[in-house]
Amino acid sequence: MSATLITNIGELTTNVELDRDRCGTVHDAAVLIEGGRIAWVGAASEAPDADEVVDAGGRAVIPGFVDSHSHLVFGGDRAAEFEARMAGQKYAAGGIRSTVAATRAASDDELRARLRGFIDEMLAQGTTTVEIKSGYGLSVADEERLVRLAAEVTPEVTFLGAHVVPAEYADHADDYVDLVVGPMLDACAPHAKWIDVFCETGAFTVPQSRRVLEAGIARGLTPRVHASQLGPGEGVRLAVELGAASVDHGTYLTDDDVTALAASDTVLTLLPGVEFSTRQPYPDARRLIDAGVTVALACDTNPGSSFTSSMPFCIAIAVRDMGMTPAEAVWASTAGGARALRRDDVGVIAPGARADLVLLDAPTRIHLAYRPGVPLVERVWKDGVAVF
Ligand code: NIG
Ligand code: FE
Repeated sequence: MSATLITNIGELTTNVELDRDRCGTVHDAAVLIEGGRIAWVGAASEAPDADEVVDAGGRAVIPGFVDSHSHLVFGGDRAAEFEARMAGQKYAAGGIRSTVAATRAASDDELRARLRGFIDEMLAQGTTTVEIKSGYGLSVADEERLVRLAAEVTPEVTFLGAHVVPAEYADHADDYVDLVVGPMLDACAPHAKWIDVFCETGAFTVPQSRRVLEAGIARGLTPRVHASQLGPGEGVRLAVELGAASVDHGTYLTDDDVTALAASDTVLTLLPGVEFSTRQPYPDARRLIDAGVTVALACDTNPGSSFTSSMPFCIAIAVRDMGMTPAEAVWASTAGGARALRRDDVGVIAPGARADLVLLDAPTRIHLAYRPGVPLVERVWKDGVAVF
């Protein structure tokens, strides 16, 4: 088995907590990769021999980003909606229905080509693990198609049949929920690991959301929930009660939400691209972290509320406008995302973990926030293979 040594790393973020440094920072470090896994981590001066040696030139290495929230299987785009929003129009979840129409009209091959394009775009920006949701099909056949296509590119597939009520069920939403928890779940569960619901005014009520999540749990899926994006509500507490791995958005959190999250294993995944592109207020990550909540950062790549796939962009916003330190933001977008997906083999650079690493063209991870918009990703390894 051939081994690769990355050496002369000026600043290595391992995420293996060390002397109260959650990022487990090691200076003048080296990492040995073998068989797609991390084989050794330590001081460059003590590094073992290898078949191939990569000189990091004193620059920073971080774990590959773990983007735990995206909607990458869709047709069309909504640039005009974004333009109108920037001119003052409010974001409304109803826009989802126009993407549903474009998605239903697209062939499998069209959706697949687009999806693979997004995966490549993400790899080039350092994202090596991505979760993908369905939710732009909203019929049994179309939702099955979306989870099946998503499963071709990631094991982290989420069934989000309960994204919004499709137009044809507008006056009888409960019948749509019957469809979601019945035939749609039957068709989608074999391709999925997670069940999600958009629990929000204008999407699904708390009792409807509970039905969806409980049906998913009964089929062996683990919940994750979209909640408190457009206003405060009970979605966060429902997610905590049902043991969700993550509750996402959290733009409008009450003190009770924060208390419930802090006492739970549920991660709160913040999605700064959404507030950026909907002109909503940025959530206060400082308040959450200080209260003891585990926070992740993700892009929520989708054609409506957040059409960025750049974790560095989200990190820059989180540091500039949400009260996170650069170290916290980098942790949240790597180890935090891994927690949100209940994974311990990614988001960390430690022996046994997957060899998913990013070499930055920068001396420190701080540059991810300090140099916003600058392409700092120099090289990316996924499962030990240089993919960028
Ligand atoms: O995560 N909140 C609901 N779903 C997406 C938005 C989808 C859309 O606008 O197309 C989100 O923001
Ligand atoms: Fe989303």
